Amino acid sequence: MPVRLGDIAPDFTAETTEGTINFHEWLGSSWGVLFSHPADFTPVCTTELGTVAKLRGEFEKRNVKVMALSVDPLDSHHKWIGDINETQNTVVNFPIIADPEFKVANLYDMVQPAMTDKTTVRSVFVIGPDKKVKLTITYPASTGRNFDELLRVIESLQLTAEYSVATPANWKHGEDVIIVTGVKDEDVPAKFPKGHKKIKPYLRTTPQPNL
Ligand code: BEZ
Repeated sequence: MPVRLGDIAPDFTAETTEGTINFHEWLGSSWGVLFSHPADFTPVCTTELGTVAKLRGEFEKRNVKVMALSVDPLDSHHKWIGDINETQNTVVNFPIIADPEFKVANLYDMVQPAMTDKTTVRSVFVIGPDKKVKLTITYPASTGRNFDELLRVIESLQLTAEYSVATPANWKHGEDVIIVTGVKDEDVPAKFPKGHKKIKPYLRTTPQPNL
């Protein structure tokens, strides 16, 4: 079964490079990112894990914990981390699940057999503090992910979770946001004291409320 937006993220207990972890306990009240990799000792994955390690501070600022998965065993992960640290000039500082029996990979539908049934594709799940899936992204093995984009969408998700707003196409930190249509015109000034523009009855914008 695919894991869909709004579903409770399936819970699991798995061996990782940072010990045995129960996913929901480990998440606690944080946001979470779970992302899969096709295989250890592969070039694109090596750059991806190095990039995420370097962005650790950015994830922490947003109260996001990060966990990776590859279907190779734990001893392979530990050896590979040495290569990642050396070649990407960083220190891998988040758990990588060892999933040689594809237990978590299958739970999250990370194997897409029309591509290959031997490894996972590049799946990403963003999970909210309520343990619900807020975002899913799937890339093929040959395309490395854009983790700046992941940080951007997490900022949007956190903003829209807290305020009655949505973010427009290509929205970036600091730009105006959209007031959701459920907010009545008469309630807008009190809810959005920084002001607003009414471009159409259904298209009202306001400065980013949490700045
Ligand atoms: C890579 O990470 O470079 C990779 C992994 C599997 C297939 C293709 C590329």
